Formats: sequence, C-alpha cells, structure tokens
Amino acid sequence: MEIRKAKAEEYDQIYLLGYDVWGEGNPVQKYLDDCRSSKKYDSGEWFVLVSDSKIISALIVYDGYFGLDNKYYGFGSIATDLKSRKKGYAKKLIHTLCDRFKNEGVNGIYLYSDIDDEFYKKIGFSVVLSDGKSSCMLNSFNKANLVPMAIPTYF
Ligand SMILES: CC(C)(COP(=O)(O)OP(=O)(O)OC[C@H]1O[C@@H](n2cnc3c(N)ncnc32)[C@H](O)[C@@H]1OP(=O)(O)O)[C@@H](O)C(=O)NCCC(=O)NCCS
Repeated sequence: MEIRKAKAEEYDQIYLLGYDVWGEGNPVQKYLDDCRSSKKYDSGEWFVLVSDSKIISALIVYDGYFGLDNKYYGFGSIATDLKSRKKGYAKKLIHTLCDRFKNEGVNGIYLYSDIDDEFYKKIGFSVVLSDGKSSCMLNSFNKANLVPMAIPTYF
C-alpha cells in the first residue's frame, strides 16, 4: 500500500471515486467534465492511497485558500472506491497525511464534514463550527489545542 501525490493522468479515476454521492444523477461524462473544469479542484493537490496498483481512496489538500490560516491545511472531497468502503482505507489515508504534514510543521488540518461527525471525531477531529448541514472540523497539532482566529469558508 502506498500513499502519495496523485499524477494528472489519475484525476479522472479519482473523480469517479465519489460519483455515487457527488454525481447528482448527471451522466458520467458531464460529471467528469465538471470536475475537470472545477476551479476548486484546480487550487488543491490530490493525494491517493494505492493498493495493488489500484487507486482506492483519495482526498484533496488545500493550502492558502478559503481563508485557511498560515500553516493550516484543508482536506476535501475524501472518497473511497465503492467496492472498497468500510475496510479502513479512508482512515488510513487521513491518518497518514495528518502525520506527514504534522512532521513537516503544519499546525492543523481543517475539513468540512457532510457526513456524521463521528467518523472524523474518531480520528482526531473536533467540531469548530456547525450549521446543521455540515460541520467545520479541526485536527489541531498545537499542544495547547488552540483554534486559530479565522475559520475557513466552506470548501
Ligand atoms: C466516507 C468515506 C470516504 C469513508 O471511506 P471508507 O474507506 O469506507 O472509510 P473507513 O473504512 O476508513 O471507515 C469507515 C467508517 O466510515 C463511516 N461512514 C461511511 N459513510 C458514512 C456516512 N455517510 N456517514 C457517517 N459515517 C459514514 C462508516 O460507518 C465507518 O465507520 P466505523 O469505522 O465506525 O465502522 C466513503 O464512505 C465514501 O467515499 N463516501 C462517499 C463520499 C463522501 O461522502 N465523502 C465524505 C465527504 S465529508
């Protein structure tokens, strides 16, 4: 198993991991076209979990967008291939990248949860803002666990 930055030629495979949830009933081609032209996706960097040469799980990392404080990253669009869900892959991907960025001097990771917060709470994230529809959550690497002044906008 390997966790690494994605290559550009892998982007379509990555987009399709979340098609069942984010496809909104659109044909695959329309969904892919929307992803390929997404300004949001253009501003981040994709990371993948690869097993047996297959992309199983992916997420996008934002740095310096959406009002993220200096040294705080944002994780978004976390998805696992439909056939490989509930086997611990997303947790492994998130854990590994959190550890990696912490060691590189990042202070914490934000994400917006559109699913039950419990999934992210179990892996070190706490809710910093919730509007009933989605929750902004932070995994703070600061010893004092201080929440920075600015909470990023939805991403
Ligand atoms: C959410 C998702 C990334 C989890 O990936 P995974 O590889 O199956 O995750 P893991 O195997 O590491 O962990 C599975 C856990 O996720 C939980 N989970 C999955 N979907 C969930 C949902 N919609 N709401 C709440 N929890 C969910 C499972 O209940 C399970 O919890 P458990 O460990 O207590 O049993 C995957 O279900 C997915 O791709 N969903 C579609 C895209 C999506 O909704 N992404 C999240 C955006 S915030």
